[in-house]
Amino acid sequence: MKSDLIEKIHYRLKQDMSPQRYKHTQGVVDTAVYLANKYGADKDAAYMAALLHDYAKDFSKEQVKEYISRNGLTVDDIMLNVHQLLHGKIAAHIAREQFNIHDEDVLNAIEYHTTGRKKMSKLEKIIYLADFIEPGRNYAGVEELREVAEQDLNKAVLLALNNTIKYVISMEKLLHTNTIEARNTLLLEV
Ligand SMILES: [Fe+2]
Ligand SMILES: [Fe+2]
Repeated sequence: MKSDLIEKIHYRLKQDMSPQRYKHTQGVVDTAVYLANKYGADKDAAYMAALLHDYAKDFSKEQVKEYISRNGLTVDDIMLNVHQLLHGKIAAHIAREQFNIHDEDVLNAIEYHTTGRKKMSKLEKIIYLADFIEPGRNYAGVEELREVAEQDLNKAVLLALNNTIKYVISMEKLLHTNTIEARNTLLLEV
């Protein structure tokens, strides 16, 4: 992997992210590389996708809107109403446009880490899961999820999706259809 590019990304992340978000990012990188090693995915791809996944997470609502319209990104109705879901799409666009990343699997793992989607690739699953279990995470159920992640990647991603769906419903928030499709296609896989 090009170390000058990695260095440049770290430099930019430190500028554009809160220190807590940068720490979370490092946790996701470590966990994603660990899972890639364990489940036979490309470690460099896991490193890059994890490093950039939350690039736009600390953007304000205004910055998100401005970025979307300036770059002509297509956004569905649910995302338009749940603006936290948009940071994956923006981060994938930044990865391509500003850091010259053209590996579609890496870009998809970044874009879909907020919702999942149908028929996720192994890398997409790893980034989705690493985001939930990195060492800095502390919530009810995280230990169980970490244990399942040691046993079976698909079962762990399914548990993470189930937890998310239950949580979103309990909060009476909009549930993205990508998340339902991710769960349905994964249920057919396990
Ligand atoms: Fe995120
Ligand atoms: Fe994250």
